[in-house]
Amino acid sequence: MHPLDDPETYRILDPGGMAQLVVRFPEMAEEIWQTAMRLRLPPADDATAIVVLGMGGSGVGGDLLQALLGPTFPVPVVVVKDRRIPAFVGPQTLLFACSHSGDTEETLEAYAAAKEAGAPAVVITSGGALAALAGQRGDPVVHLPAGLPPRAAVPYLFLPMVSALRRLTHMGELSGEWAEARGVLRGLVDELGPTARAEGNPAKRLAARLVGHLPAIYASSPGLAAVAYRWKCQFNENSKTLALWNTFPELNHNETVGWEDQAVARQIAVVLLREPEEDPAVARRVMATRDVAFAAAASVDEVRARGASRLARLLSLVLFGDFVSVYLALFRGVDPTPVAPIDEIKRRLAAS
Ligand code: F6R
Repeated sequence: MHPLDDPETYRILDPGGMAQLVVRFPEMAEEIWQTAMRLRLPPADDATAIVVLGMGGSGVGGDLLQALLGPTFPVPVVVVKDRRIPAFVGPQTLLFACSHSGDTEETLEAYAAAKEAGAPAVVITSGGALAALAGQRGDPVVHLPAGLPPRAAVPYLFLPMVSALRRLTHMGELSGEWAEARGVLRGLVDELGPTARAEGNPAKRLAARLVGHLPAIYASSPGLAAVAYRWKCQFNENSKTLALWNTFPELNHNETVGWEDQAVARQIAVVLLREPEEDPAVARRVMATRDVAFAAAASVDEVRARGASRLARLLSLVLFGDFVSVYLALFRGVDPTPVAPIDEIKRRLAAS
């Protein structure tokens, strides 16, 4: 039996159950979508900017929100992954403060500063100091289940913001999107999950090709940058490996030249993240780059987003990458759940 088709592999190498958390992605999404619909929201009709605070796994939701709203949303969406907030933050900034633990120092500090500046806020957390501060400030809190690795809680961290904005602002067009995304995600779990046999499972097959190589995740357009970055971070945290990421067309203006180093190029496994249908100019650009730059790469794979709506496309690529990162961990014989260096650095900083 293929090792990734064998439940024993998961029992031994994945005691924290990361694979099952990825399987639960659509379920978590459905649950939080329903909860978020009932959330009391701050008045924000006159918001001139949206700011999302969050680090690491809790910051991904902000990146995805920016990607979802894209260039057509009438107010800017700014993601802050720092303790400092931009000077424009004030009473007309709608703030989302996201931290799964509720104890991340950068998010706590930025939240306090934004509240001092008068920003109405929604807090998304499982507890910690952030929940306590939100209570004191009277801000609405989306309470998340505790005890999950934050990166496995992405539906919980992202979808409440989508739901809130849909109710608050100019996002009426999103109404049908969740219904479609839900169906796409459930279908993907059947196709890519641990019980789908390796021979017909594109996520297991892709992970097998990445073993022993440095993955380079390239998004075919800036609209998929958030997803390429998510794949990179999941390879880092779940698979315990370094990874590159970048987006077209920007990479054609710099990184492509680095591929002339053939000795390094041979160690790199390229994954191209693409839309189901693309502008022919984008397709020509990707093809030209494959020919000119990736000839020496260990492998070049393509993963296409699924679905018609932006929401389904973004979430389908996130889910695909999450499965690949867990399978790569198992192929490498590492436990996907612990993130020892993150914990150790937090511990040292807290002690200093
Ligand atoms: C761990 C993870 C990390 C944390 C980050 C911030 O699974 O993904 O990137 O998300 O260290 O911590 P929280 O999410 O608790 O604010």
